[in-house]
This record gives sequence, structure tokens and C-alpha cells, in this order.
Amino acid sequence: MNFAIRPYHPSDLCSLYRICLRTADSGQDATALFRDPELIGHIYTAPYAVAEPDLCFILTVDGAPSGYVLGTRDSNAFHVWCEREWFPVLRARYPLPPDDDDSADANAIRGIHEGHTPHPDLAAYPAHLHIDLLPVAQGQGWGRRMIETFTMRLREIGVPAVHLGVGKRNTGAIQFYERVGFHRIFDGDGWIAFGMLL
Ligand SMILES: CC(C)(COP(=O)(O)OP(=O)(O)OC[C@H]1O[C@@H](n2cnc3c(N)ncnc32)[C@H](O)[C@@H]1OP(=O)(O)O)[C@@H](O)C(=O)NCCC(=O)NCCS
Repeated sequence: MNFAIRPYHPSDLCSLYRICLRTADSGQDATALFRDPELIGHIYTAPYAVAEPDLCFILTVDGAPSGYVLGTRDSNAFHVWCEREWFPVLRARYPLPPDDDDSADANAIRGIHEGHTPHPDLAAYPAHLHIDLLPVAQGQGWGRRMIETFTMRLREIGVPAVHLGVGKRNTGAIQFYERVGFHRIFDGDGWIAFGMLL
């Protein structure tokens, strides 16, 4: 198999949605959990690729998009952009569900209504990222190379530090972030904030 990392192209957008869904259950395939397969990508992939395509990189396997790393250089500015350009249309399309609806769709829709509000304790780490690789690409060093590609780009544009959030159930990803140079910033409710100084 032939692996390569290349810059994002707009024709990759559907692949971002697909890969996001296939890794959204604490790193496992979440396809069976969602009635609407686009919901999770509306939050965690598409707005980043649309707002900051130069910070999105694609891992291909024999030419097929099979992983991504993407994010924002400035979480505050990204939040402002999302509130203006991204979430209003989606909030109208997906009204808030009833409180007793605990389905994956309902929880994702709540995420759309919450938006990407920056955490005050992460202000010293202005960038943030998301990384997901399909199983065919995992465990061969490509995650590490993707993080290196992303952080090299952040250094080029003068960003001082980057953070990310990972669910506590995703134990494999937690070990990955520790191995590739992230440190724990704090433990949240069900998730951990990791950071890296650049
Ligand atoms: C998590 C993920 C990005 C890691 O990428 P990867 O290509 O599999 O990891 P690499 O092969 O580059 O591994 C880099 C290092 O992390 C370690 N590591 C990676 N996955 C690990 C795991 N599941 N358990 C323990 N260590 C792990 C490797 O042993 C390696 O250590 P070393 O270089 O010191 O020997 C990838 O597996 C993935 O996308 N998983 C599914 C989606 C996901 O969970 N995304 C993160 C959401 S927060």
C-alpha cells in the first residue's frame, strides 16, 4: 500500500465527513449510532476545512483519503467565525431536541447549539486540532507524522502552542498523544485537555 500526506483539496470534504463518522465512537466506527451520518462532521471536521483549509492535511492510502489532521490557529477567532458563518444555518436546520432524548443524534445537535466556545483555561494554547485515521492507516507511524506536519505548519505561521481534547474512554488516543509530545493540561468531566508548546 502506498501512503502519502498531502494538503487538503475541496474535493476531500465528503471524505472528512466519512472518516469522522467512522472514528467517532471513542476511536471506533460510529456509523450504527447515528441516524444522520453528517451530524458529527458538521461539528468536528467541515468547519475547520472550510475556515482554515491551509491547516488541513489528508493521509491517502493508494490515493484514497484515509485520514486527516485539521484545526484552527486561533480558537477565539475560529469561534467568532463559526458563530457568524457556520452554526446559525445548522441551528435552524437542527432544532434543539427534548431534554429526555439521549440519542447520539440529539447529543450532536446539542453540540451544534453549544458551538466551539473556547475554554478559558486553554488561552495560552491558542490553536487546537483533531486527528482521525481509518483502521487501514493506524499503528504504522502515520499519526505521528500527521501531528508533525500540522505542528510544523503552526510553527511556520508563528503559533506558540496547540491544545486538543480527548474523551477518557479513548485510552488508545490518550497514550498516542503522550507518546508524540503532548502533556496533560487538566482533566475535565469525561475528557482530558492536552497541550504542546511549539
Ligand atoms: C489515535 C491515532 C491518531 C494514532 O495514530 P496512529 O498512526 O495509529 O499512531 P502511530 O502509529 O503514529 O503511533 C505513535 C506512537 O503512539 C503510540 N500509540 C498509538 N496508538 C496507540 C494505542 N492505541 N495504544 C498505545 N499506544 C499507541 C504508538 O505506540 C507510537 O509510540 P512510539 O512511536 O513511541 O513507538 C489513530 O490511531 C486514530 O486515528 N485512531 C482512531 C480515531 C481517534 O481515536 N482519534 C483521536 C480522537 S481524540
